[in-house]
Amino acid sequence: MYYYSIILLTICISCFGCKKEKNKGRCICRDGLTPVLDAIRESDGLIIGSPNYLSEMTASFRALYERLIFQNLTYNAENPCCNERPIPVLLIMTSNAPDTAFVDMMRNYQQALNGFVGPTEIFVSGETLQLRDYSKTDWPWTMFDPEAKKKRHETIFPEECRKAFELGAALAK
Ligand SMILES: Cc1cc2nc3c(=O)[nH]c(=O)nc-3n(C[C@H](O)[C@H](O)[C@H](O)COP(=O)(O)O)c2cc1C
Repeated sequence: MYYYSIILLTICISCFGCKKEKNKGRCICRDGLTPVLDAIRESDGLIIGSPNYLSEMTASFRALYERLIFQNLTYNAENPCCNERPIPVLLIMTSNAPDTAFVDMMRNYQQALNGFVGPTEIFVSGETLQLRDYSKTDWPWTMFDPEAKKKRHETIFPEECRKAFELGAALAK
């Protein structure tokens, strides 16, 4: 029996369908994430990117993350993970805050992905531009220094894009 979601993509609904022997390692919730989870199961590597929203990864990322990890968690102390085919993972996050602001959070994600999906690299690009032209806002966005943002976008951001590309290429090898 499958559970159908009326929305395109949902979080883990704690149905414990993946904790039945016949579904072991498979989320049985049917929605927009089902083909994604199926494709990951067939893949040789996984690259996930998310912006930081309100000091966390986005809700869409969380939905994927919860169902990807939880389907492999057995709750069996001797053998807690039923993933028999670990694949390398690259997790990328962009943020307004500096790249050092979410170190603990990213390490937590890395640890969980290491344990339940495969060896995981993390990469953060912080202090992103967000707006091309800060002079056109309806009121002054005084929390930001537009000049510093622009300079960083032109100098450091291209380097970070190159680094992210290299990490992806290394994962593909
Ligand atoms: C709803 C929303 C919440 C956000 N919350 C945060 C936040 O808590 N911390 C942060 O560093 N950036 C936050 N941001 C900024 C995004 O992380 C940023 O726009 C994203 O990394 C992409 O950068 P870009 O717009 O320059 O491409 C938020 C953006 C939005 C739209």
